[in-house]
Amino acid sequence: MFRWICLVLCLCVLAVPTAAVAQEAEAPADPRAETGGATTLEDILRRQRGEDVDLEFRRERTGDPEGAAATTDPLGTLGGASDPELWRALRFGEADITSQVRAPGATLLVQDSGMAWLEFREGPLRVWGGYFLLGVLGFLAVFFLLRGRIKIGEGRAGITILRFNFIERFSHWLLAGSFILLGITGLITLFGRKGLIPFIGHEAYATIALASKWVHNNVSWAFMLALVMVFVLWVIHNIPSRLDLVWFAKGGGIIGSGHPPAKKFNAGQKIIFWSVIILGGSISASGLALLFPFELNMFAATFDKMRGLGITELPLYGPLPETLTPHGEMQHAQIWHAVVSFVLMGIIVAHIYIGSLGMEGAYDAMGSGEVDLNWAREHHSLWVEEVEAAKTSANPGSDATPAE
Ligand code: HEM
Repeated sequence: MFRWICLVLCLCVLAVPTAAVAQEAEAPADPRAETGGATTLEDILRRQRGEDVDLEFRRERTGDPEGAAATTDPLGTLGGASDPELWRALRFGEADITSQVRAPGATLLVQDSGMAWLEFREGPLRVWGGYFLLGVLGFLAVFFLLRGRIKIGEGRAGITILRFNFIERFSHWLLAGSFILLGITGLITLFGRKGLIPFIGHEAYATIALASKWVHNNVSWAFMLALVMVFVLWVIHNIPSRLDLVWFAKGGGIIGSGHPPAKKFNAGQKIIFWSVIILGGSISASGLALLFPFELNMFAATFDKMRGLGITELPLYGPLPETLTPHGEMQHAQIWHAVVSFVLMGIIVAHIYIGSLGMEGAYDAMGSGEVDLNWAREHHSLWVEEVEAAKTSANPGSDATPAE
């Protein structure tokens, strides 16, 4: 008897894992089999927790017209697709839609990535963009407290030298004036709903928003024109050279007290110049895509080229999509336009600081165009030598000292 009891116990112990394995083997491969292929409770909970839900399983489930009951059947038929199936087809771009409107995107009734764009624009874009600009201002305030104003070491000579002629100053101020207007009106458009309506109300904000949009759209042309002018005038002075490495090695004279030699533009200014040209050019291109909706679709083509280079995903963005709807292109253009603008605004705030409050004698270069000779010798010694040599060769008998 005891032997039988032992045998039964042994079989039970063995049977438990075996049953579990069998159950595992029988477990449905598709977790949505239980719901007949529809969304599961886990999907819903994941979405509520803000986690990603793989929607691939729904993309194809858009109804089968062949499966529709004949309209002559009792109670008739609604067609081969239920309402949810129809909405799914619209959402995933599977529905066969015809429209008399011939504009791009006219047959796109539901755009799946629209929510993600809206949430990014209203969330991280505003929050991180705002913190970034405040961070730059805070950094400059601390830098000013620690470093103070960079003085002209030898004091003013009282003799000036022409640094920028009228056309250079005109181009600079056209660029600066238009950029500042574009920056302010762009920030009003992005932050206005949250940042202004609670204080000034809907009516006043509506007027300001309309004016901002008008200014932003039209002043953009002045910015693009000035960008081209500045590029043509200064590109020759901004070609990187070995001298730039020396300038960086000596901290540019901003950190510390030495003054590394420099020609018309030092390495720091070359960074400003190329940032303005490249980022300003990119902001202009994406701005044009927004100004002429659906006409300039650049992102899918860019992603295609990146995939050709072996880049299939980007940090903070994820896998690069293979196709983009016309609206998806516009949403990418808007996000890119805003993100790159934030970066350039940060750089320009630092530039404005160093060109005005941060350095004695710098503003004159763009104010009157004439800078003090000692300032010029400290910050652009090789350029002063070039100017003096050019004057001497133009008037061999004359004194090389610049006019007072
Ligand atoms: C009120 C604002 C601004 C002030 C006070 C200012 C001041 C200056 C000064 C003094 C210079 C000449 C520096 C030198 O002689 O070596 C300069 C150059 C320049 N500025 Fe501005 N600027 C302002 C806004 C802007 C804006 C908004 C942009 C572009 C969007 C810009 C782009 C440039 C560029 C590309 C240069 C040549 C490179 C350099 O010197 O850094 N500036 N600025």
